[in-house]
Amino acid sequence: MRETMASWLPAGRSIGARRSGMIAALALLLTPITGLNAGAAADLELGRHLSAECVSCHGAARAGGAIPDIFGHEPMTFVEVMKAYRDKRLPNEAMQTVASRLNDEDLAALALYFATAKKTN
Ligand code: HEC
Repeated sequence: MRETMASWLPAGRSIGARRSGMIAALALLLTPITGLNAGAAADLELGRHLSAECVSCHGAARAGGAIPDIFGHEPMTFVEVMKAYRDKRLPNEAMQTVASRLNDEDLAALALYFATAKKTN
């Protein structure tokens, strides 16, 4: 088994080095998609859960309409805007009320979710 696997390896490289290199490359490839980090996966799940309320309004966003599209925003900016609504530095009663119920962890999870999720309608 060892000999057959080694036969396609470039000369001078051990199976161990080759395999760990492949695993590292695979992890790099999958990280942005699945979030191999368990914390990020949990955040994404929380964000998806909380997003249901947001999508009830923002899902209907149309170019030039009163409701802005909130998909694909840069997460840091997204969090700052949400905090501004929460602190009532930005005026919009609906958004102020929505944001007042969310803590920093919720906002980070929502930012992550909306930065990566695809709009479904
Ligand atoms: C009742 C409808 C409604 C709900 C529910 C709602 N929003 Fe909004 N949101 C709005 C409207 C309307 C605006 C535009 C406000 C303005 O023009 O000042 C807005 C603006 C925003 C903006 C600023 C976007 C930009 O480009 O300026 C963000 C970010 C945002 N909402 C996120 C959320 C999130 C996250 C949720 C769920 C937790 C949510 N909204 C729930 C109606 C809603």
